Amino acid sequence: MEMSMLLPSNLISYCAHWRGPSRHLSSFKQQQRSKYTTTTIITSSATRNSNNYCNDDEIDTDMDMDMDMDMDMDMDNSNNLMMTGWTVRKALDESIRRLEDKKVTEPEYSVLHLMAFALQLPWENGIRDLITTSTDDDTKNDNNTNNNNNNDEDDDNIKTMLLTSEQAKDFERMLQRREKHEPIQYVLGQWDFLDYTIAIRRPLLCPRPETEELVMRIVEETTESPVHILDCGCGTGVIGIALAEILPDATVEAIDIEPIAIETSMENAQRVLKDQSGGIDKYPDCYIATLVSANDYKPEHPFDIVVSNPPYIPRNDMKTLTDDVTKYESDQALCGGNDGMDVIRTIIRRLPEWCNSEAVCWMEVDPSHPKIIQEWLDNQDGGKVRFESSHKDMFGKDRFVKLRVL
Ligand SMILES: C[S@@+](CC[C@H](N)C(=O)[O-])C[C@H]1O[C@@H](n2cnc3c(N)ncnc32)[C@H](O)[C@@H]1O
Repeated sequence: MEMSMLLPSNLISYCAHWRGPSRHLSSFKQQQRSKYTTTTIITSSATRNSNNYCNDDEIDTDMDMDMDMDMDMDMDNSNNLMMTGWTVRKALDESIRRLEDKKVTEPEYSVLHLMAFALQLPWENGIRDLITTSTDDDTKNDNNTNNNNNNDEDDDNIKTMLLTSEQAKDFERMLQRREKHEPIQYVLGQWDFLDYTIAIRRPLLCPRPETEELVMRIVEETTESPVHILDCGCGTGVIGIALAEILPDATVEAIDIEPIAIETSMENAQRVLKDQSGGIDKYPDCYIATLVSANDYKPEHPFDIVVSNPPYIPRNDMKTLTDDVTKYESDQALCGGNDGMDVIRTIIRRLPEWCNSEAVCWMEVDPSHPKIIQEWLDNQDGGKVRFESSHKDMFGKDRFVKLRVL
């Protein structure tokens, strides 16, 4: 089957919406996937960092495979196709079929992302180039400097390039992980959140587009400066790091109970906040992550803003999630107990102790939660936290709550 036949029009429009490096925050509205119920190939990509090409441990072992072959097609012991010498087009077509057979969601997206990575196309626009050339038979790419020869194709662009053994090996290794429904973010080891390319490791939550919305709401509503912010349950660190980067004079403390979250968020903070070009260096002064639970956390300085995307899926809803989510992302990142509110309740109870008066708390929650939270807070005599508002996400779901510390 021709690649062009396999590429649905939504891929083309996805391409048209591909985000540039300084588009700050507009395109998160374009994403049309609902949280936790689909795979998470939802945000775009920025500059590729070869250090994060893949998880290092996986590379070392997988690179030992000897795939130096000239043949058109071969099988390894586990019956996986070896694609050395195939055209990119043929490898794409065949791989999409493989993912379809395994019922992997979004097979085209997956394969294109993996191929762009394997070919080391620029992170920023590699997949767009791949889609464009893969769907436009008339396009000539005069800059094809790869030493590959065309075989049965009449044009000279990416789709007619022949895969080297290294490219085939990298692609095959990633494809096999995706065949097992591993989220593309883990396979690539990085993904984009707003304008930032961040490292992502199992079993941390792969950031969702709704969380980009949450960050932008906070940015839009924050007028005072400086602000001291707590990101409770930081995971990869995306919320706090984005706020530290965007808000002038913001300082962010982040907490999580998962050691790899602390390690990864500090790495991401350095990646995003450390100035590389002589401007203002916000790292390490503006971001610190600490391994501690919301229950035990005692800050040294009170906060003006508390933000959290806590684990909030009600226990019974966990079984509605796909394997891509439940097999790879941790239960403690996803599940918030019977009604999904265990960590949310802890955070709300701790707010008066953590915050300055008039501080705000923003949380991403399950659509069932705003009503429960409002009733709970409205019925507390002398309570020190007031329910201020709830807000819908881009899918029309009640997703965010704003609370005020009195
Ligand atoms: C839904 S994930 C959010 C990750 C990240 N903020 C994001 O939006 O992508 C929730 C995070 O809260 C952390 N967490 C769970 N229970 C916690 C607790 N009691 N105190 C602090 N963090 C907790 C989990 O380890 C996980 O990293």
